[in-house]
Amino acid sequence: MDKSMTVGVIGAGTMGIGIAQVAAQAGHNVVLYDAREDVVKKAVADLLGTLDKLAAKGKISGEEAAATHGRIKPVNNLKALSGCGLVMEAIVEDLAIKKKVFADLEKVTSAGTILATNTSSLSITAIAAACSDPSRIIGLHFFNPAPILPLVEVVPGLATDPKLVAQSSQLMASWKKVPVICKDTPGFIVNRVARPFYGEALRIHEEGIADIPAIDRAMKEIGGFKMGPFELMDLIGNDINFAVTESVFRAFFFDPRYKPSITQQRMVEAGWLGRKSGRGYYRYDQGQEQGQEQDHARGQEIVERILVMLINEAAEALNLGIASRDDIDLAMTKGVSYPKGLLKWADEKGIAECLTKLEALEEQYSEDRYRPSPLLRRMAREGTTFY
Ligand code: NAI
Repeated sequence: MDKSMTVGVIGAGTMGIGIAQVAAQAGHNVVLYDAREDVVKKAVADLLGTLDKLAAKGKISGEEAAATHGRIKPVNNLKALSGCGLVMEAIVEDLAIKKKVFADLEKVTSAGTILATNTSSLSITAIAAACSDPSRIIGLHFFNPAPILPLVEVVPGLATDPKLVAQSSQLMASWKKVPVICKDTPGFIVNRVARPFYGEALRIHEEGIADIPAIDRAMKEIGGFKMGPFELMDLIGNDINFAVTESVFRAFFFDPRYKPSITQQRMVEAGWLGRKSGRGYYRYDQGQEQGQEQDHARGQEIVERILVMLINEAAEALNLGIASRDDIDLAMTKGVSYPKGLLKWADEKGIAECLTKLEALEEQYSEDRYRPSPLLRRMAREGTTFY
């Protein structure tokens, strides 16, 4: 696959236009289609502004900005994607609608065209089942904003041709992305392993152990995370974050580890979605006192509790063969900018210590939510490390 390959993108929303920009910056001609013609036109016009800003800041040259924009061709029908070597689908997150689009795509493209979906929560296998040849369907999950975040989760479905995994990974690397390979399971790597970052922080808050600013400060100042869990939920939007948690919970047949929070549900019901609505866990429509006081020992406890839950999730993902050790750590550092890979972090803390902490939580709460991964138990017994 070289630069002469034309890339098709379906859906010119947040993700679609970002992916189109990435492909065009990598030198491909891009054909961009959206069910709404006005959306494609506006997205392409707005992109020119984005590229001009990058050029003004000296991040790219003026020529590159113009050339990138010139490579993106808006089209108004699916047939215009017929000559593409790869088609990236980034439309609404709805299984029935995606299935219909893939069944139609299969008819207008040639047998060698890779058909990829950017879905964040649907099964690749289920989408591919809409096609008579599901072997050429794969998940290529970009993160928002696609031109900035380097991670791409490469997700083969059950029937995907194994050759596509290596081919797509190479292509993503040529787009200066960091591909990680993962099994077609709910949340893939990042949206699964990151659940406790939000869920456990919400639990700590619900139990009155600390207030929201104190939890956020502890995670940043002691944990080294760029943003606190509540700040991040406000940025993502409580509606989106709650929907992801609910979907992962349901997809795992109600495993209590992924149980959504009633506190967050109420925030959604109140319309307190975060930054975009002016109010979430914090106020954005008026100044807010961030709070000063920090009890270091309590902050340490908060970080430990959230961190061992994250480590447990990462260890269990490895235990179940969702992805390799290196890919799990890469996914969390490149996709959600964690300060360290979780498995590396586990080694540094000590596997036995992580296990002791999890067992203490399990005993304190008598909840399945805190059950330690069998992999951690085995490693603690055998005295082994991840690296
Ligand atoms: P969006 O709502 O911004 O854009 C979706 C676009 O698809 C709209 O412009 C809509 O007109 C178009 N569309 C809907 N049905 C269509 C059809 N049948 N044919 C052609 N175009 C159609 O959505 P967004 O946020 O860009 O998400 C797109 C996909 O990417 C979803 O599957 C989502 O789960 C996934 N995703 C989203 C991320 C995010 O942070 N927004 C991150 C990673 C993945």
